[in-house]
Amino acid sequence: MCKVIAIASQKGGTAKSTTCRNLATVLKNMGYKVLVVDCDNRATRS
Ligand SMILES: Nc1ncnc2c1ncn2[C@@H]1O[C@H](COP(=O)(O)OP(=O)(O)OP(=O)(O)O)[C@@H](O)[C@H]1O
Ligand SMILES: [Mg+2]
Repeated sequence: MCKVIAIASQKGGTAKSTTCRNLATVLKNMGYKVLVVDCDNRATRS
């Protein structure tokens, strides 16, 4: 079953992408298949 986890805040630079990447890594290491989509229109890299 698919689950969607949203990490959202209107404020920029508050570790949304970092949290997403770390969470995705942990879930992947736990054996889950993970798809990460960064919907930030700036989509800055971290
Ligand atoms: N726990 C932390 N300690 C120190 N720096 C951090 C931490 N988490 C994130 N950062 C740094 O803070 C900056 C912003 O993080 P990030 O890009 O994840 O934020 P964001 O909310 O996705 O930003 P944006 O709104 O621009 O997409 C990055 O330079 C990142 O490396
Ligand atoms: Mg971001």
